[in-house]
Amino acid sequence: MSISVAIDGPAGAGKSTIAKILAKKLGFVYVDTGAMYRAMGYYFSRNGIDKDDFASMSARCEEADIEIRYAEGEQQVFLNGENVNGKIRTEEAGLMASACARNGDVREKLVELQRALAKKTDVVMDGRDIGTNVLPGADVKVYLTASVQTRAKRRFEELRGKGVSCLMAEVEKDIIARDRQDMNREIAPLKQAEDAVLVDSSDLTIEEVVEKICRLIDKGGKN
Ligand code: DC
Repeated sequence: MSISVAIDGPAGAGKSTIAKILAKKLGFVYVDTGAMYRAMGYYFSRNGIDKDDFASMSARCEEADIEIRYAEGEQQVFLNGENVNGKIRTEEAGLMASACARNGDVREKLVELQRALAKKTDVVMDGRDIGTNVLPGADVKVYLTASVQTRAKRRFEELRGKGVSCLMAEVEKDIIARDRQDMNREIAPLKQAEDAVLVDSSDLTIEEVVEKICRLIDKGGKN
């Protein structure tokens, strides 16, 4: 049986940074499920499908073949054979991902892919519904969060670091909109699983968060 660590939480909480380091430390495979929704959203945007057009999303999500590959330990997302990793990291792509993640057919398709990956190998998987829905039997579940201000500041600095010009207030507004959409959707909304351990990273360094989760893993997922 493979081992899985589930890390859920809102946008900008540091999930991918932490999950990547943890996976490396543990020798597990890191699975970024948000990237799959981003690739799907990118497919819809590219085909002129509106963020609220659920009928087209349901009808056309099967056309999007989303595949995960690894290059030098880094997850690469392929959309119909094209590596779209470099195209799905914008704020716009995040909002479209969140919009199409409300659609049940999209979720069904991607959850199947996520479960297949976790069945095959030991994983650290991050997302919004991993502990509650994708892998309810995960060995360790973490709900990683931070204040809206902290998350917005981190995202802002990350975007600026990449040379993207943006306003802090805009980034904060996008984060609030995305949280609201992810927490209030009908299917598999973002929430802390009953057996997940809450980690608030607002006042912690990356190392401190990693250490906290490693301790949790050593104790079999119980705080
Ligand atoms: O983690 P991220 O910012 O890359 O995720 C983008 C969006 O995808 C997020 O706002 C909601 C959706 N998502 C989801 O609904 N379920 C997941 N397991 C992962 C992401």
